[in-house]
Parts: sequence; structure tokens; C-alpha cells
Amino acid sequence: MVLCVKNLSVSIERSRIVHGIDCHLHEGELLMLLGPNGAGKSTLLRAISGDLAYGGSVSLSGRELGEWRPEHLARQRAVMPQRVEVNFPLTVEEVVQLGRSELRAGMNDPVVDRLMDDLDIAHLRHRLVPGLSGGEQQRLQLARVLAQIMDSPGERLLLLDECTSALDPAHQQMVLDLVRRLAKEEGVAVLAVMHDLNLAAQFADRLMLMKAGYRVHSGSAWDVLTPDLLETVYGFSARVVELEEGYPMVVPRRGAPVRAQLAPLNPSCRQAS
Ligand SMILES: Nc1ncnc2c1ncn2[C@@H]1O[C@H](COP(=O)(O)OP(=O)(O)O)[C@@H](O)[C@H]1O
Ligand SMILES: [Mg+2]
Repeated sequence: MVLCVKNLSVSIERSRIVHGIDCHLHEGELLMLLGPNGAGKSTLLRAISGDLAYGGSVSLSGRELGEWRPEHLARQRAVMPQRVEVNFPLTVEEVVQLGRSELRAGMNDPVVDRLMDDLDIAHLRHRLVPGLSGGEQQRLQLARVLAQIMDSPGERLLLLDECTSALDPAHQQMVLDLVRRLAKEEGVAVLAVMHDLNLAAQFADRLMLMKAGYRVHSGSAWDVLTPDLLETVYGFSARVVELEEGYPMVVPRRGAPVRAQLAPLNPSCRQAS
């Protein structure tokens, strides 16, 4: 198993943000994490990344996170945070190269070229990063993050926090196709926070739904994206219809009341681990 999270809790300034989460990922699996703003998705991801102190256990390839040497961890696990600010006058190509270790760094690194092609930023390679659009910056950050683990031997884990939030529909599909290909063809285990329920339904192997720091439900798209759960977790009313390809599609009901701020988590909805 690539990732095994047991009873993970995170507190910040004495308030509990994440409560007793369990989840696991096998090689080649793509798990998408859903939930409303403030549900604790980024906090959970940051704890799994080792950026926040946590209670419980996070192990990668059977070894607890704290036992990994940083240089080894960097080759097996890559993290794309929700927000990355690059204000240095670096070019696109230089930023992708930052993802390569010194050993692999070089001007003609084929991995850097391939990732720039795959993420449609090759034409921007000599541009300075601060002048890029939001979507271009997001694709660049993903290229840098992927460069870090691209040709590492052994099990690999990719943690992505809303990696398509700034992208147009074509680039969303391009990025998610690439991430899925990395999972299915190269065995990378992926945990990706998403907001778009319909993209999650199409691209994920499994979904996990969080609210108020708890795991509310996990399973297939059809298990998780039900009108009842969407109402409970997000406080909005939607139909769920079946697409020709067999995926569920969530269609919000226009004009129906939205109770996003008013819908506290009913304790009975917390999923037993
Ligand atoms: N450093 C922090 N200090 C105080 N509160 C925080 C901090 N980080 C996150 N929170 C709070 O924890 C909750 C979960 O945040 P977050 O994990 O970013 O949610 P999500 O990614 O699901 O939108 C939010 O209410 C947020 O305000
Ligand atoms: Mg977040």
C-alpha cells in the first residue's frame, strides 16, 4: 500500500480541524477528496504532506512519515498546494527544473521538455513567471511538482490540492487525463482535492466526501454523489442523472434554496472508520 492514514487528527491553535480520518491508497489508485469550503481538505492534505503536526498515523510504503529522510521523501512524494506564489523573475523552464534534483538537473532534461509539452506550457518556456495568467501558472506548478517524482523508482504518491481550479475546460481535461495516465500507466497513487463534482465522477476511482473535518462518506461516484448526501454536506439541491458513459452527473436545481452556511454536520452522518 502506498499511503495508509489512520485516525488522523489535526488541531490548529487548540481548535480541532480534522477529526480521526482513515484512508488508504494503493499503487495506481486515484482518490478524489470533495467537500465544501472549510471542510478541512487542505488541512488533511497538508498533514499527509508532513507540513502540519498531526495525531494518528500517516505511512508511505509502510514507513511512518517522520521516519523518512527528506531527500528520499522528495523523490517518492510530490505535493501541489492550493496556492503557490512565485514572485521571483524565473522563467517557466527554470521553475520546472526546480522540481528536478541537482543530480538530474540539466538544460536538456527530456522530462522537463515532456512535461512542458504535456501541460501546454512549452510555448511559454522563456517567459517570466510573474507575468503568466492564473491558469498558466497553475499548469506550470503542476509541471514542477510532477518533475519531482517523474522518473523515481519505487512507489510514488502525488498530492494535489485543487490543481484544476484556475483552468479552462480543455486544460482541466488535459490535466486530469495526464494525472489519470500517471496513475494507470505508471502506478502513481494520487490523492486530489477537487471542487468539480462532475470531473471527479469521471476521473476518480473513488471519492471521499468531507465536512467539518470529518469523513462523511467514501466510495464510488454513484455511492457518494447522491442528492441526499449533496444536500447534507453542501446544503444544495441537485438532481443526479446518468451520462451515456455510465458516470453520474450532478445538476443543481436552479432557484432552489442553498443552505451552505446553515447546514451543520449531523453527527449521524460521520462515517464510521
Ligand atoms: N492556520 C490556520 N489557522 C486557523 N484556522 C485555520 C488554519 N488553517 C485552516 N484553518 C481553518 O480550518 C478549516 C479548514 O480549512 P481548510 O483545510 O483550508 O478547508 P478546505 O480546504 O476544505 O476548504 C477552515 O475553517 C479554516 O479557516
Ligand atoms: Mg482548500
